[in-house]
Amino acid sequence: MVLNLTYVNGKKYRVVYRLILVERFIIKGGRTLSGRVSISGAKNSALKLMAASLLSGSETTIRNVPMIEDVYTMVEVLKTMGVKVSIDTTGKTLKIHPGSIKSQEAPYEMVRKMRASVLVTGPLLARFGRARVAIPGGCNIGSRGIDLHLKGFEVLGAKYGIEHGYINCSTENKMGHGRLKGADINLDFPSRGATENLMMAAALAHGRTTITNAAREPEIADLAGFLNRMGACISGAGTDTITIEGVETLHGAEYEVMPDSIEAGTFIAAASICGNGVIIENAVRHNLEVFYLKLKEIGVNIDAANENTIRVDRPEADYRPINVSTLPYPGFPTDLQPVITVLLTLVQGVSIVTENVFENRFMYVDELNRMGANIKIEGHHAVVKGVRKLSGAPVRAFDLRAGAAVVLAGLAAEGTTEVSDIYHIQRGYENFDLKLKGLGADISMTG
Ligand code: UD1
Repeated sequence: MVLNLTYVNGKKYRVVYRLILVERFIIKGGRTLSGRVSISGAKNSALKLMAASLLSGSETTIRNVPMIEDVYTMVEVLKTMGVKVSIDTTGKTLKIHPGSIKSQEAPYEMVRKMRASVLVTGPLLARFGRARVAIPGGCNIGSRGIDLHLKGFEVLGAKYGIEHGYINCSTENKMGHGRLKGADINLDFPSRGATENLMMAAALAHGRTTITNAAREPEIADLAGFLNRMGACISGAGTDTITIEGVETLHGAEYEVMPDSIEAGTFIAAASICGNGVIIENAVRHNLEVFYLKLKEIGVNIDAANENTIRVDRPEADYRPINVSTLPYPGFPTDLQPVITVLLTLVQGVSIVTENVFENRFMYVDELNRMGANIKIEGHHAVVKGVRKLSGAPVRAFDLRAGAAVVLAGLAAEGTTEVSDIYHIQRGYENFDLKLKGLGADISMTG
């Protein structure tokens, strides 16, 4: 049992007893998965919509929110600032009332837990003219800077300084806290977080902002859809050029989070590894196009019954090795790199997996090798030599997606796999074990 101290409103300490650090998944491999699984709302959209709700002073209702640890962390971030949040876990709905906000600070305790906390910077800066946010620091999948976010805020007229591990951003001038000013921003790299932070900041800026070389993920379009529902004027989100006509104020809105493509991809990968007759509902094929095509290239018996349902059946022929390289959307998603590597581990021949988005995203490979995989890392490439079988072992979940990968390996392995540090998985997958169990997996949680 773990004691977790949380700093709230600058005064009180809240004591939270958590079991998450000692919980493990115990998986008995070898079962064939079948049946239906329904995909939850997208983590990487819900967190941004929660941050965006800070842009107005009135209530916002967000539906289809996945009830996962990262969402609870963002709720804590908002509550720490004095924002009222009510959670309906059954109805998967959040009501956020930022009218009561008292501080514009995201403390280290929370940013350290979840890097996406930095996404409150843009909305706070735009609405209040200031934001104090802890610097996220290192993370298990690479150093992940926020320089592009900061450079963009500067172009919009903000100043920032770093002090005691915090970034202080401000629009202050001789006249007090001024408004951000629309400008042309070209991103050196199509960073998703920078695109989102800057789009939110520009929504309340004076004049027009154009972001070029913007990230194009469907979640960016989802965020723009929400902002427009709040009264913003944004076009082009989902393409590499986004235009934002700043408005003076935004109001509360109701919105439904899009389905999670990475969760869908994870279940598709699980079904490809050890399934027959698995139907994945709320999986928007269009958002998974490159992943879908790569699975076809491997020989996975995958079929899009309609735009939102994907079915995976046992293949008629042996799978084939392939090469795959991650790239920003619409390229192959880095978040699905670990799970496709597990699949390729069991494909005869040599496959090459190249990671172009994050450094250190192959840390789970040693865990797979302990289960009998044959993978060698050369720079940012993984050379995967297919093996006939994996065998169960105690393994660690190094991060969210790496955690999902070792669970999938456990489902395919002979014998028992014990996965520790599963709090990483619980950060981003809603009821992962229960959903797999629903498909017939032998997986249980011990604490
Ligand atoms: C988001 C997703 C994450 C996904 C990633 C890439 C969320 C909460 N997380 O993360 O699941 O894996 O997109 O699709 O939505 N970079 C910089 N400077 C910056 C910003 C980024 O150097 O200012 C670098 C990062 O170190 C990284 C790359 O750009 O190597 C991608 O980062 P980014 O697209 O910003 O990813 P996140 O928004 O952090």
